[in-house]
Formats: sequence, C-alpha cells, structure tokens
Amino acid sequence: AFEVELRRSGRTVTVGADTTVLAAVRAELPDTPYSCEQGFCGTCRHRVLEGEIDHRDELLTDGERGDSMLICVSRARGTRLVLDA
Ligand code: FES
Repeated sequence: AFEVELRRSGRTVTVGADTTVLAAVRAELPDTPYSCEQGFCGTCRHRVLEGEIDHRDELLTDGERGDSMLICVSRARGTRLVLDA
C-alpha cells in the first residue's frame, strides 16, 4: 500500500494492492472525473507534485510523465505521492 496526499484538499488516502488511485481519490473527492478506467482516454490525468510514479498507461508522452499521471491505472513506486487535487 502507499499513501496519496491530495494537497489542495488537505486530505490523504491509502491505496491498497486491490484498488486504484482513482478509486481511493474518488472516495474523498466524488467529483473527480474519469472515463475509460484503462489508461487510454486521459480524463483522469492529475499533476503530481511529489513522489515517484509507476506509469502503467499507454497514453502519456515521456514529457507528460515528468509531472503527471493517469490515476486510473498508474501507481506509486515508493510509499507516497502528492497530487494537485
Ligand atoms: Fe481514462 Fe484514466 S479514466 S485514462
């Protein structure tokens, strides 16, 4: 499991092995937009302020991967991510 801090909202959620960042974020922020849930539409893209990202999508370019992620499929490499959410 790893933690995801939603910095603008002032909340932190835990993402277990059996769930996604998107699901964990939506539990706190139900209006968070998404569509495909498979890493190809880009609707769930979030800016990442801190932490190392484990990118699992097929959409973002290397440049985009520097500071953003698709939270429906991608995860953390370490123990914590900070999202601009
Ligand atoms: Fe489509 Fe995440 S919901 S890429």
